[in-house]
Amino acid sequence: MAKAAKHSYVCQSCGAVAARWAGKCASYNEWNTLLEENTPIAAPGTGLAKSSKGRVITLESLTGSTKEEPRFSTGINELDRVTGGGIVPGSAMLIGGEPGIGKSTLLLQLAASLGSAGRRAIYFTGEEATAQVRMRAKRLGLSDAPVALAAETNLSNIMATLGNGKRPDLIVIDSIQTLWADALDAAPGTVSQVRAATQALIRYAKSAGSALLLVGHVTKDGNIAGPKVIEHMVDTVLYFEGDRGHPFRILRAVKNRFGATDEIGVFEMVSAGLREVANPSELFLGDRDSGSPGTAVFAGVEGTRPLLVEIQALVAPSALGTPRRAVVGWDSNRLSMLLAVLDARCGVSLAQHDVYLNVAGGLKITEPAADLAASAALLSSFSGVALPVQHVYFGEISLSGAVRAAAHMATRLKEAQKLGFERAVIPAAGDVDGGESTLKTTRIAHLKDLVSGAQA
Ligand code: TYD
Ligand code: MG
Repeated sequence: MAKAAKHSYVCQSCGAVAARWAGKCASYNEWNTLLEENTPIAAPGTGLAKSSKGRVITLESLTGSTKEEPRFSTGINELDRVTGGGIVPGSAMLIGGEPGIGKSTLLLQLAASLGSAGRRAIYFTGEEATAQVRMRAKRLGLSDAPVALAAETNLSNIMATLGNGKRPDLIVIDSIQTLWADALDAAPGTVSQVRAATQALIRYAKSAGSALLLVGHVTKDGNIAGPKVIEHMVDTVLYFEGDRGHPFRILRAVKNRFGATDEIGVFEMVSAGLREVANPSELFLGDRDSGSPGTAVFAGVEGTRPLLVEIQALVAPSALGTPRRAVVGWDSNRLSMLLAVLDARCGVSLAQHDVYLNVAGGLKITEPAADLAASAALLSSFSGVALPVQHVYFGEISLSGAVRAAAHMATRLKEAQKLGFERAVIPAAGDVDGGESTLKTTRIAHLKDLVSGAQA
C-alpha cells in the first residue's frame, strides 16, 4: 500500500489520483483536469491487513419472488412518466441542466406537490438565500405549501438536520456542487467533496427510505460536472434540456434503474412556473409557418409517445468556397450523410449551396426516422416548392438511398390523423397494423421517389 500522501492531485473528470501534478490526466487523457486536493489517498477500508475474516453469504437464484418497487407519485404526471411511474423511496436521483433552464423551479414545484400531498419534503439550497426561494415560491403560487427549507452548504449540518425529527420522504439538494464536508480540505465542487457529500447523502437516503434528489451543474459541453462516479452512484440520471429562447423544456432520463430511459417529460416555462404539456405535438406545431417552401412535418416517437414536429430547411446559393452547413436540434453528421446520399444516389447536388436545418420549438431529435422529413424539407427549399400542408413524413434513409421501415408506425399515423393531417409519406416496408386510420399513405422505397415526387 502506498503511504497516504498529504498532497495529491485529483482528476476532476475521472477521479484518478496522481502524486505529482501533470498537464494531462494519465487515465482520462484529458488536459488540465488535475487539481490539488489535500486529502489522504487511501480510501477508507482499503488496508487489507485489517480486514475481517468475512462471513459466508447465502447465494440465491434468479427465480424467486421479488416484490415490485414501491413508488409514490410525484403529483406531476410528466415527472412520473420519466421516472417510470413515480419516485422510489430510498433511491437517489441526479438532475442536470444548463443554468437557468428551470431545475430549481421544477424541484420546488415537486417538493410543494409532495408537501401538499401530506409527505415531508426538505429543500436544501446552497445556491440561493431562503428569501430568493421564498420569492420563487410566491411567484409559483406555492407560498403556503408545507416545504421545509434551509440555505445550507455544510454537509455535517445537513446530515445532523436530517437525523433530527421526522424522516423526510424527499430530500432536495440544490446543488451537490455547493456542498462541503469540513473533514476534507478541498474546495466545494471538487471531486473529493462532491463524492463525499453524495456518498453520505445516499447512505442516509437508503437507510431512512427517503428519496434523494440532487441537482448537478453541467459543463460547457453539456455533461454533468464532476466525476462520472456520481452518475454511477445514483439510481437515476435526468437531464433537463431546452433552448432558453423557447418556453419548452424536455426532461429526459439517461439512466434509470427503476424504469425505461426512452420516455421524455415535456414542460412549458410560463410566468407561473413549469406547466405540464400533455400533448406536445399540438404545442410544437402550434405556430407553423405552413405553406412556405422548406418545411416538413416529422411524425416522431419519443418513448411511447408520438411527437409531431416541424423540420425547417433553408438551401441557398453559397458565396463561399466551402458552403456552410448549420444544424439546430439535429445531428450534423446525419445532415452530411443525407446531402451525400442526395448527391450520389438521386443526382441532387447541394455542393454549391449553404444548407441550414432547424427543428422548430427548440426540440432535439435523435431518431433516424427523421431522415425522410429532413430530406423532404431540403428538397422543398431547394426547389422552392412548398410541400402540401397536410402531409407528414417519417422513415430512415440508408446510404444506398433506400427508405427503411421505422418503429411504431401505427402510433405515428394515429397521432398525425388526430391532428388533422391527411397523408403520410412513409417507408414502403413496415407494418401499420393497429393503426386503422383513415390517413392516406404514400409508400416510398427509395429517396429517388421523393425527389421525383417533389419535381412532379
Ligand atoms: P431556475 O429554476 O432558477 O433555473 P436553474 O435552477 O436550472 O438554474 O429557473 C430560472 C429561469 O426560469 C429564469 O430565467 C426565469 C424563469 N422562470 C419563469 O419563466 N417563470 C417562473 O415562474 C420561474 C420561477 C422562473
Ligand atoms: Mg437553480
